[in-house]
Amino acid sequence: MIGRRDGPLMRSGGYSLSFWKSRIAAAIAVGVAIGCVFAFFFPDGPFSVAGPPLQNRRLVNTQGESSSSSCESSERVNMLKSEYVAVSQKNAELKKEVRELMEKFKLAEQGKDQAQKQVLSLGQQQKAGPFGTVKGSRINPTVVPDDSVNLRLAKILEKVAVNRELIVALANSNVKEMLEVWFTNIKRVGVLNYLVVALDEDIAKFCEANSVPVYKRDPDKDVDSVGRTGGNHAVSGLKFRILREFLQLGYSVLLSDVDIVYLQNPFNHLYRDSDVESMTDGHDNRTAYGFNDVLDEPGMGWARYAHTMRIWVYNSGFFYIRPTIPSIELLDRVAGRLSRENAWDQAVFNEELFFPSHSGYDGLHAARRTMDFYLFMNSKVLFKTVRKDAALSKIKPVIVHVNYHPDKLPRMKAVVEYYVNGKEDALKPFPDGSDW
Ligand SMILES: *[C@@H]1O[C@H](CO)[C@@H](O)[C@H](O)[C@H]1NC(C)=O
Repeated sequence: MIGRRDGPLMRSGGYSLSFWKSRIAAAIAVGVAIGCVFAFFFPDGPFSVAGPPLQNRRLVNTQGESSSSSCESSERVNMLKSEYVAVSQKNAELKKEVRELMEKFKLAEQGKDQAQKQVLSLGQQQKAGPFGTVKGSRINPTVVPDDSVNLRLAKILEKVAVNRELIVALANSNVKEMLEVWFTNIKRVGVLNYLVVALDEDIAKFCEANSVPVYKRDPDKDVDSVGRTGGNHAVSGLKFRILREFLQLGYSVLLSDVDIVYLQNPFNHLYRDSDVESMTDGHDNRTAYGFNDVLDEPGMGWARYAHTMRIWVYNSGFFYIRPTIPSIELLDRVAGRLSRENAWDQAVFNEELFFPSHSGYDGLHAARRTMDFYLFMNSKVLFKTVRKDAALSKIKPVIVHVNYHPDKLPRMKAVVEYYVNGKEDALKPFPDGSDW
């Protein structure tokens, strides 16, 4: 695998196998034709012609031979000789070409899988349009739904999802109070397509008692012991495994933590053009959407400025993910790494999404979109900027995610007071950051 993508196959223009096969067939046909020419002019083989090698014969000729009959025959021999030289030169060229073709064919065979995968994913070849009119596709096709993955979940989703999409949150008893604020506000903005994945019995009952759509994991499934007893990171790994089933069943999921207050219907504010559309931990245009961060190394003199690409991480607690192959690959890669490494799921999620392929590493090729950071607002943006800005504080976000503050429940309630009940002072008691 390593290096194949940079290999000569791609540089040679990505010709198909059948192209090389036809080139080789043509070369063989020319070879056979040359064989026929030889058979015609040299029935006894090229080396049976009497006389010294060509170079000497030419010298003999220029010295002059008197007999007319011998002159005639020597002229004919000369003609044949020069023809032989031309043909053997041509033959050498053809041999070289065949050798090159065989080499390319071998490389094409080696790269066959890669090339075929490429053809499958790129579809029909097309000509590029005029300047300024070409646009690459970021909308990957969705997978064929496979109900056999989880029939019970498939039945639930048939009832709950709208337009094959829904909000999904994982919850255990530790987050019960936040979950209540979470679903109360979802109901208030009129969203029907949401589902709680209950990680314990208590939460399942709590949801049922409140008419909240709930899905209990099969207690026999081994991953579920993690959900009941596991720490934060273990639950995070579980999240990506559970999500996979939703995507395999053909649904787009708006994955949501429970420390989120819904103020508008999020489905009216999605683009749905990327594999992953995520809220950001960034707090302004640059940090949210990416910028060129220039590092100054005066010791480098003329080249003292090193340009770097920076973007604040995507928030792995609120993202919309379409059921595509790159999306499922992302979930697998993240879950796989979380099971092997003791890592923070959000860091892993971002590394898998953003790091490019390089030697020894195939990067993920998923389409990404950053959500508007004023509409899908993190609590740093709200408490550091928006609440102090006369204009910004008038705009109602779609959601507020209390991700930057440990006192989640009181801040969630304050967000509801401020945006829903119109209490202008509701956000004032809280410091910008946490106190410690
Ligand atoms: C941020 O970007 C938006 C849209 O691209 C623009 O309208 C706005 O002026 C920018 N804000 C700042 C502070 O540059």
